Amino acid sequence: MPAMKSFHIITFGCQMNEHDSERMTGILEAQGSTLVSDPGQAEMIILNTCSIREKAEQKFFSELGRLRQLKTENPNLKIAVAGCIAQQEGRKILSRAPYVDMIFGPSDIAKISDIVEAQRVRRNPVIDIEGDAEYHHKLVPTSRTDSLKAWVSIMYGCDNFCTYCIVPYLRGRERSRPPGDIVKEVHDLAEKGYKEVTLLGQNVNSYGKGLGTAVNFPELLNRVNDVVGIERIRFVTSHPKDLSDGLITALSDLLKVCESIHLPAQSGSDRILAAMNRRYTAAAYLDKVKKLREAVPGIALTTDIIVGFPGETEDDFSMTMKLLRDVSFDSIFAFKYSQRPNTVALELARQVPEDVKEARLAQALELQQDIALQKNKDLIGTVQEVLVEGPSKKGETLTGRTRGNKAVNFIGQASLRGSLAQVRIRSAAQNSLSGEICG
Ligand code: 5AD
Ligand code: SF4
Repeated sequence: MPAMKSFHIITFGCQMNEHDSERMTGILEAQGSTLVSDPGQAEMIILNTCSIREKAEQKFFSELGRLRQLKTENPNLKIAVAGCIAQQEGRKILSRAPYVDMIFGPSDIAKISDIVEAQRVRRNPVIDIEGDAEYHHKLVPTSRTDSLKAWVSIMYGCDNFCTYCIVPYLRGRERSRPPGDIVKEVHDLAEKGYKEVTLLGQNVNSYGKGLGTAVNFPELLNRVNDVVGIERIRFVTSHPKDLSDGLITALSDLLKVCESIHLPAQSGSDRILAAMNRRYTAAAYLDKVKKLREAVPGIALTTDIIVGFPGETEDDFSMTMKLLRDVSFDSIFAFKYSQRPNTVALELARQVPEDVKEARLAQALELQQDIALQKNKDLIGTVQEVLVEGPSKKGETLTGRTRGNKAVNFIGQASLRGSLAQVRIRSAAQNSLSGEICG
């Protein structure tokens, strides 16, 4: 008899959290519990939380507030708060929401069944934010939301301490998974019919540090590239300072490694980059982009930008706009700087007013709209390899992604799902392409 017959998960934030939710689901399902889509039907609701910006935190607390009603209607309902806010707030969550039963951090999610059991026995809230490394590395059953594309964690935590970022405080120091475990997981995925893996880590370029094996990130890519059945390999996130020549060679030489990289620039101003503790200059960033484009023609480039970091002047911001124009990213994620507890930047003077941040964000996004559309238009007439995912949302066409990770719609048989199709691009919008199968 499972400890919990049914559960529902609400996930906030990044791919890492999405994947952590897949792992929690896998563990609970292996014990006989069922994932349900209606929170009203669940015996337990898990909120897997994100704290990267204040907005994410507010979203979580309003969701938690809504659950109070469900708990009043059904006092047997268990509420679990997992992930980054659990780590950040710990017991303090109980003073805001005394109806929470379990609180556990991102490094403790593999312990979920023990935590559920401890709560059942104790009947008091259970708090576990210990970050037990041994548990964290454990291979656990994983219930994946997709059957073609899979996330595979290769490392946890971060040692970089960018001054705006809360991640190192919540996800702890960088820890790499042993390469053998990763390759085994990818093999198992290939056997189940998966075609694409995305290797996940806060800073994949420094993979292997402290492992005691000679395997660095390019070498890991080599090993994953050898796994029969896997057709495509992607990875996130790369820190520009650690983007090595070895990685550029791997991107150009390894057939399965897709021509695409997410390389967060954050700012185009050297003064701001230094204040962010990013440890590269705009010129060094542009140099890496140049090298990437020389070695891997047509590589798709995406980035993260923060506007309104403390002390950012109009001049600094114009350098970010210049960087966006100089690089011509395929797409960007742009954020207003958000003050986070414990971080160095929180204490900096000259915080930028909200309306200025708002205006800069709008300007950056507007510029990027034109750039993204042009980048997509440049693909018109080319033939792209597309991994066919199945019918599009509207159902009239098939959809899939290019190696550059762009969505493409085209006419074709549903039976093509899971195969690689050659598609000639006929038209382009800002966020998608359409074309027809050829060859
Ligand atoms: N404020 C705004 N954006 C942030 N990011 C990280 N911390 C903050 C913050 N305090 C952004 C960075 C990072 C992405 C995942 O989130 O751009 O690359
Ligand atoms: Fe945060 Fe910087 Fe680490 Fe990325 S590299 S998780 S931005 S501290």
